[in-house]
Amino acid sequence: MQLDFTYYNPTKIHFGKNSLTKLNDELTQYGDTVMLVYGRNAIKSNGLYDDIMTILAAAGKKVIELSGVMPNPTYNKMMEGAALVREHNVSLILAVGGGSVIDCAKGISVSAYCENEDPFQKYWIEFSEVDNKVVPVASVLTMVGTGSEMNGGSVITHEATKYKAGRVFPANVYPGFSILNPEYTFTVSQYQMVSGVFDTMSHLMEQYFSDQGANTSDYLIESLLKSSIDNLRVALKNPDDYEARSNLMWNATLALNTITGLSKTQDWQVHMIEHQLGAYTDCAHGMGLAAISLPYYRLIYKFGIEKFVRFATQVWGISCEGKTQDQIALEGIDALAHFTKECGIVTSLKELGATKEMLPKIAESTTIIGKGYKKLTSEEILNILETCF
Ligand code: NZQ
Ligand code: ZN
Repeated sequence: MQLDFTYYNPTKIHFGKNSLTKLNDELTQYGDTVMLVYGRNAIKSNGLYDDIMTILAAAGKKVIELSGVMPNPTYNKMMEGAALVREHNVSLILAVGGGSVIDCAKGISVSAYCENEDPFQKYWIEFSEVDNKVVPVASVLTMVGTGSEMNGGSVITHEATKYKAGRVFPANVYPGFSILNPEYTFTVSQYQMVSGVFDTMSHLMEQYFSDQGANTSDYLIESLLKSSIDNLRVALKNPDDYEARSNLMWNATLALNTITGLSKTQDWQVHMIEHQLGAYTDCAHGMGLAAISLPYYRLIYKFGIEKFVRFATQVWGISCEGKTQDQIALEGIDALAHFTKECGIVTSLKELGATKEMLPKIAESTTIIGKGYKKLTSEEILNILETCF
């Protein structure tokens, strides 16, 4: 059933091998000072940094740089960027990188002129309306998975309190434009590639496993899951396969540009647990999600069995003949588990850097949402963490 909704997404996407040629035209809409936000080495070693600096210089822009944005971007890094924006009166924040860089750019955008209150407290803890000046953000995507290139999400880790918090900002914080060239992802390591694809799949599952019945979003999600599975298999064999990389890139964008969430209640409990796992271990986001997903879905499937049966048959092609609903549903989760193994996804928290002592702290600090098939307790979260430890 389709519920009532209004759909609007302000991000313009330039997709393809020549998409960087659109940057010059886009820049004419913004003022003179651009802050280039990027990570540690990737864009310098693959030449993208030089290409972008050449375009910015030709467009007559003054460039301020914020480099060294780390995976799981921190509050301190965001505040460093916010101070630079104020000091140089930056008119566009251009994020070049993966989800961490783009999330940090959005965080800087809302924090730069949030001068009377601590922005983390105001926007990521209290979820207040954004009522201060926002600096436009745009992106050049180099790592696939989060969907940050076409949404308002910004996930920031507060180092002092060990709290990794996500927030979806309104349309004026979404990237105004995003440049998506699948070739930029050829240099992403296999580890990061599979982590990113599992992130895409997790976004789809978080939306799928809520409500019963089926609406168009559920059909879209099944297709995007199948495309992610098929294309990851191809990209693992040949990382330079343009078709596979381009499908993975567009799947990730579609998985979290809010289109597949329409008419869905949405769960997001796996993400809530992973965020705290990330705050304690700094693990790759998609790997943490994979580890948690398997015991989580084994715990909750009985409460949403129809959808888990559908997942098994529609996504994994499991036959129903002579089987109970329970068996079919569990075979679907097993198929997901086999796929994670096949792709070399790490599903042990120990391997992701967790220690036994961390688990109760992660469980206690996890936000419990209660919108999926079962509202978890802190004890159940601890059990999940212990199961995948
Ligand atoms: O630091 P550099 O050198 O740039 O290396 C990065 C980083 O080490 C590397 N990389 C990126 N592009 C590359 C490349 N290496 C080689 N070639 C390239 N072309 O990849 C590493 C990981 O990058 P990162 O941006 O951290 O990965 P990802 O895109 O997975 O982002 C993860 C962050 O996004 C948040 C996560 O929680 C995490 O903090 N999320 C954001 C969401 C959103 N905005 O909607 C939703 C997600 O659920 C997620 O929570
Ligand atoms: Zn995610």
